[in-house]
Amino acid sequence: MSKDSNIIPLPAYFERYRELFSKLDREHIPCHAAIIMDGNGRWARQRGLVRYRGHEHAMKSVRESVRASAELGLKALSLFAFSTENWKRPKEEVAFLLRLFDRTLANELDELCGNNVRFMCSGDRQKLPDWLNKTIDRAGEMLAKNTGLILNLAVNYGGKQDILQAVNKLLKGGARSAQREITETEFEKALFTGNLPPVDLMIRTSGEQRISNFFLWQAAYAELIFLDVLWPDFRRQHLLEAVIEYQNRDRRFGAI
Ligand code: IPE
Ligand code: IPE
Ligand code: MG
Repeated sequence: MSKDSNIIPLPAYFERYRELFSKLDREHIPCHAAIIMDGNGRWARQRGLVRYRGHEHAMKSVRESVRASAELGLKALSLFAFSTENWKRPKEEVAFLLRLFDRTLANELDELCGNNVRFMCSGDRQKLPDWLNKTIDRAGEMLAKNTGLILNLAVNYGGKQDILQAVNKLLKGGARSAQREITETEFEKALFTGNLPPVDLMIRTSGEQRISNFFLWQAAYAELIFLDVLWPDFRRQHLLEAVIEYQNRDRRFGAI
């Protein structure tokens, strides 16, 4: 029996991941990637399951995308988890989603810490239940000393609402009486994402091609990638494929 026959073959997706990794240009990794995680309901429906099962299954995709982002050396990964418009869903689904965020975040804290990940949340947190706000605060504090990837969870986030709250924050901070114009830098700092770099790459899964009130300002010059894969089927290799496509784009920023 040859020695090689003892080697367990790696799963196909692993080989694909390794092959993709070798194609990466390590000098041009996007600083900030943002994902509109869409398609959980359709994923469940295709399997004759209730929508909740799709949301549950999607937590694996969240884990994979965070791990891959840390491996790739991204500075920030923003995940659109719950929009200001998602309150229109049945209250049972909303409650389920908020519980799921809470439980997943609490369960993942040790691994996030081990991977040197920092954590922040973007969105209007006033409408979130206290127990979720507590878990968010705990995660932020526990991971604050880390130095790697910033994981930004967008919960009760709306792009329009973000712009409005930034304007109101600046007005309250004395911008009205300052008798001068607000600069782009000041405005950017007042957004929920004030400490994050602009979005380089924005991915939406599920085949829909719209922004759905996500980062309206932050994605001004993002490369947009729309994938047909439903979010619960999203794996590391999909993120890598998107980064490779991003690297093949010609980013001109209005120049020639
Ligand atoms: C994304 O999946 C999850 C959230 C918006 C919270 P959906 O629940 O929107 O799934 P589809 O779009 O109905 O398939
Ligand atoms: C966008 O997905 C919001 C999130 C992914 C959190 P939706 O499923 O809510 O968006 P629409 O309704 O298709 O625009
Ligand atoms: Mg959807």
